[in-house]
Amino acid sequence: NVNVAERIDYVFKVVVIGDSAVGKTQILSRFAKNEFCFDSKSTIGVEFQTRTVTISGKLIKAQIWDTAGQERYRAVTSAYYRGALGAMVVYDITKRQSFDHVARWIEELRAHADTSIVIMLIGNKADLLDRRAVRTEDAVEFAEDQGLFFSETSALTGENVETAFFKILQQIH
Ligand code: GTP
Repeated sequence: NVNVAERIDYVFKVVVIGDSAVGKTQILSRFAKNEFCFDSKSTIGVEFQTRTVTISGKLIKAQIWDTAGQERYRAVTSAYYRGALGAMVVYDITKRQSFDHVARWIEELRAHADTSIVIMLIGNKADLLDRRAVRTEDAVEFAEDQGLFFSETSALTGENVETAFFKILQQIH
């Protein structure tokens, strides 16, 4: 829409990272299109989706980048992080290993992204409570240690997805 494009005040790039199958692509689809796909395929290379929102009276185009969690499908790291103002580091609350790997993802972020980047830790699949393998308190403690924002989300139900993105965009703004 040309009229909206002309009125955009800012374009904010946000990257989403984390192990394969934690739900990165579905979190994006929930935020950008309010959609969810049960048989989501692994991302190959890089994709992005956008959504324009109003924050404090400004029209902000959020450009959300999604890359493969699987090493062999990953794109050039430095290009992926270039210009990113926000990052979501996602793990799956039912997969302990995906939480244990968060420290590595943060390291990669700190090595390649701007030092002022706003980072949010996301525990996804919060709808699968009976399969929980990561305690909320452990994630809260880790996030506090590392100076990250934190939220548990469900791309399936949509719980907290929009709130998490708005939090990041507000902090960038
Ligand atoms: P890669 O592209 O390989 O890095 O994976 P990804 O992190 O993008 O994962 P993707 O979004 O493709 O989701 C992986 C699987 O988890 C899919 O079968 C999704 O349907 C499922 N899934 C994603 N989010 C949720 C959620 O919040 N709850 C539940 N129950 N399943 C989810």
